[in-house]
Amino acid sequence: MSDPLLRCQSVTKRFGGLRALHDVSFDVPEGSIVGLIGPNGAGKTTLFNCISGFLRPDHGEISLGGRSLRGQSASQVASAGIVRTFQSVRTFPGFTVLESVLAAQYVRFRAGAVDSILRLPRHRRELAEMRERAFAALELLGLAGLAGARCEDQPLLSQRKIEVARAIVTEPKLLLLDEPSAGATPRESQELAEVVRHLNADGMSVLLIEHNVPFITGLADWVEVLHFGEIVASCAPGDVVDDPVVAEIYLGRAA
Ligand SMILES: Nc1ncnc2c1ncn2[C@@H]1O[C@H](COP(=O)(O)OP(=O)(O)O)[C@@H](O)[C@H]1O
Ligand SMILES: [Mg+2]
Repeated sequence: MSDPLLRCQSVTKRFGGLRALHDVSFDVPEGSIVGLIGPNGAGKTTLFNCISGFLRPDHGEISLGGRSLRGQSASQVASAGIVRTFQSVRTFPGFTVLESVLAAQYVRFRAGAVDSILRLPRHRRELAEMRERAFAALELLGLAGLAGARCEDQPLLSQRKIEVARAIVTEPKLLLLDEPSAGATPRESQELAEVVRHLNADGMSVLLIEHNVPFITGLADWVEVLHFGEIVASCAPGDVVDDPVVAEIYLGRAA
């Protein structure tokens, strides 16, 4: 059998005396959408930080396509094909929406290359391709009309969408989305779900953190449930709501 796209094996992370992640093991198969749910403070964002190279796990192994990511920086992990969005939206003061999405693509270029972009024909072509990818991403997210608008003037949901656009223009193999529909209306959540489906149909694998259970069960192929830093349930989306562990710890019902 071939390696899964992402494999987390016994990932453990402590912050001082706090055990944020303990022995977390799961896979994201190539081409799938895996949902990650769990109460506030369960360790979901910490897991994203470990996978994306923003934090180093204390123990355990994370690999992409069978290759260990141990010791790799966030930019190395991004170059390897894992890109994430942030739960708390980052603004890009002074940037237009288009500029912020273009800037996200510069991670593809090594230091020094950016200067030459403006000179060599090949690099001019690359710049044109970057603009095309940026416009395609803005179109997909319904942001095309805002290309020239300032990032900081946008409402929260548009800023979340800009985050997604900035992630997808780098054409990751695995996209990590941290609560993309937080604060969205049901209709807006539906639109975001459509975007994720579209990306997945184009071959992108997705690991998705969400509080919105219908959003996740309508989208994911598989759901992992994190509680106090441990995977406590692992189930098909149709079984999430009836899972006794989920009912007890996540939905707040007695099993
Ligand atoms: N950088 C950090 N330093 C110390 N504690 C942290 C840090 N990041 C997260 N934590 C703690 O780790 C636990 C898990 O947090 P987090 O991963 O953000 O949970 P979730 O995303 O599931 O809500 C929480 O108790 C949180 O306070
Ligand atoms: Mg979080």
